[in-house]
Amino acid sequence: MRAYQLDRFESLDGLVLRDREMPQPGPGEAVVRIHARSLNYRDLLIMHRRYPVPGTAGVVPVSDGAGEVVAVGEGVTRVAVGDRVAATYFPRWRDGRFAVEMAAEQFGCTRDGMLAEFAVADQEALVTIPAHLSYEEASTLPCAGVMAWSALTGLRPVLPSETVLTIGSGGVALFALQFATLFGARVIAVTSSESKAELLKRHGASVVVNSSRSPDWERAVRDATDGRGVDHVVETGGLDTLPRSLASCGADAHLALVAALGAGTLDAPALGAPATIRRLYVGSRASFEAMNRAIAHHTLRPVIGSVFPFDEAKDAYTHFAAKQHVGKVVIGT
Ligand SMILES: NC(=O)c1ccc[n+]([C@@H]2O[C@H](COP(=O)([O-])OP(=O)(O)OC[C@H]3O[C@@H](n4cnc5c(N)ncnc54)[C@H](OP(=O)(O)O)[C@@H]3O)[C@@H](O)[C@H]2O)c1
Repeated sequence: MRAYQLDRFESLDGLVLRDREMPQPGPGEAVVRIHARSLNYRDLLIMHRRYPVPGTAGVVPVSDGAGEVVAVGEGVTRVAVGDRVAATYFPRWRDGRFAVEMAAEQFGCTRDGMLAEFAVADQEALVTIPAHLSYEEASTLPCAGVMAWSALTGLRPVLPSETVLTIGSGGVALFALQFATLFGARVIAVTSSESKAELLKRHGASVVVNSSRSPDWERAVRDATDGRGVDHVVETGGLDTLPRSLASCGADAHLALVAALGAGTLDAPALGAPATIRRLYVGSRASFEAMNRAIAHHTLRPVIGSVFPFDEAKDAYTHFAAKQHVGKVVIGT
């Protein structure tokens, strides 16, 4: 089979297409023909050796993909040949609390990932994808989708009529916008781009604030809430935006700290914000399955900005790194 692998780290030059042995399922495992994958910021971090978990030399990159089961090993009961599936971001996190040691095992980092024609996974790491989604759409779910779902349904679930602040127009922000709208919340979206503002409105944002035109955008956010501030923040800008996000918070707000990168610092006034900050890492298999039920019930469709053929995977990386995309960047067949 054909597979990309990371022979070297630090640049895109280290990503090479090779012929590899067809994976065989061991006991409890399934082999999946991958029809589509999607990129996440972590795939760039791993490539550039900036991810907290160092990638294994020669690993097949990319955590997120979707496909059909083509072979199963001894004792497999969770999935069958022909099932349409995706793998969970953390293969060992099924339910309950996250344990730090679970982070050591990740597809596309320490285990071969989805940028190949076939992938092998433990049956416990696979979930069935919603029937109305194409493989391309389903490939966007494991990281960005589950991350947004966890941010809005975890510690303090979003309630109808509450206000949610989203940052940017990437994969996580778009899912957060879609899920919050589905829960009956009002979304205020911040973007640096006028052209992306229209798209955010089309997907349900009540108010879009352009951070290029209004650098102190927290004022516009507070104005849009009659001075009260928002109830939830899905913080995807990291330390670059965290002080302004905190300044946008209303009483007893919940801020899901999705990204922790960036150059900003928190001063005493920022720390005086009346908010609970919660650092999150994607989510468990149980969260993935709950999200899939909601997506199926509402026939929700993920937002895909662009699709690249498998042979042009490097162009997909370049496009994604340029941050000109909206929603998800997908690599198909
Ligand atoms: N903790 C976790 O488990 C977890 C899981 C998933 C993602 N993440 C992190 O969450 C972040 C977003 O992920 P993603 O997949 O949605 O990324 P993405 O698709 O690359 O999002 C890029 C968009 O976010 C906005 N943006 C980027 N940098 C920004 C900054 N410094 N300040 C404000 N806006 C910024 C821009 O939107 P506009 O052009 O509209 O301004 C940009 O187009 C990444 O840092 C990623 O590593 C963490």
